[in-house]
Amino acid sequence: MDKTELESIKSLQKKLSELIGVSGHEKPVIEFIQSQIEGSVEKIWVDPLGSLLAIKKGDESRDRIMIDAHADEIGFMVSYVEPRGGFLRFVPIGGWDTRILLGQAVKVLANDGKIYHGIIGSKPTHLTTESERKSAVKTSDMYIDIGMSTKEEVESRGIHIGSVGTLYDPFVEFPNNMVRGKAFDDRTGVNVLIHIIKEFAEKPLSDTVLFSFSMGEEIGARGAGPAAFSLDPTMAIAIENTTAADVPGIKESECPAYIGKGPAITVADRSLIAHPLVNQRLIENAKYENIPYHIKKPLFGGTNAGRIHQTRRGIPSSVVSVPCRYIHSPTSLLSLEDIYHTIRLTSAFIRNPAKVFSSP
Ligand code: CO
Repeated sequence: MDKTELESIKSLQKKLSELIGVSGHEKPVIEFIQSQIEGSVEKIWVDPLGSLLAIKKGDESRDRIMIDAHADEIGFMVSYVEPRGGFLRFVPIGGWDTRILLGQAVKVLANDGKIYHGIIGSKPTHLTTESERKSAVKTSDMYIDIGMSTKEEVESRGIHIGSVGTLYDPFVEFPNNMVRGKAFDDRTGVNVLIHIIKEFAEKPLSDTVLFSFSMGEEIGARGAGPAAFSLDPTMAIAIENTTAADVPGIKESECPAYIGKGPAITVADRSLIAHPLVNQRLIENAKYENIPYHIKKPLFGGTNAGRIHQTRRGIPSSVVSVPCRYIHSPTSLLSLEDIYHTIRLTSAFIRNPAKVFSSP
């Protein structure tokens, strides 16, 4: 294990995790990524929907490989500001486990980019009836308290209907190269792509590599299709974060992926049957370079690859994921070593030393 590489992965994971980029409002994340990769690719631009696209050119007669990671994260949007107390009512953006929302710390983004801290509250427990205590609190009965006293004060600070925010928990290091934080889905993929771009900055490539930091994945993979249309690849991989259910109470046959076993390669999920030739190129190159990997059990989840493979004339695609526990929570847990091996696998797929599925 390369210690300097692990340090670099960790510090980038922390920075990416702490940015706020709720679906449709990815600009802070996109600007940060742009600052990291400018000068390391030949072409870079933001598309009309807000995805960041970049090209690293290879031999024009050969394959065009699209590598995707989504820049957005799940969060919430303010739906109403209470006149008394300036409490914020909100709707979830993307798939939260609504059981975890109550009592969480949040960050709300004001118009000027300033961040306000908040807490998700509901009717105080001492005022609830016995039957209310037995059922889960509905999101529509919750509110966000940002410590203000009136609607006017909230709005004068640039927070209003349509403002977005995320659940927040600080980035923390655990033993065994594990880290905990928010938005690992899919800043982890973003981390992998940035490392890949830097790795190949000075190296000539045989295949062209097309990078997409897509907007809007968590609300139905909205940015990846248009990104794939613009980039016009001949094959694609989405780099994702997937559910590690290697926890008590889960049968082996129902555990999609595991922490500590390297990247999980998708054969099928709800949005895609992975193309066998793309998986062959992944697996044979992993074997060639002794990179640990495992196969993610079908049919859990869906990713941008579901959208990408149906673009234009059809694009053979697959997904490589870093396993993560407590995904879609602000306290997601993963292994930096799994990110390290995912970077190695992506690099091997691009270089293709095993010479699989390459154009003549
Ligand atoms: Co994701």
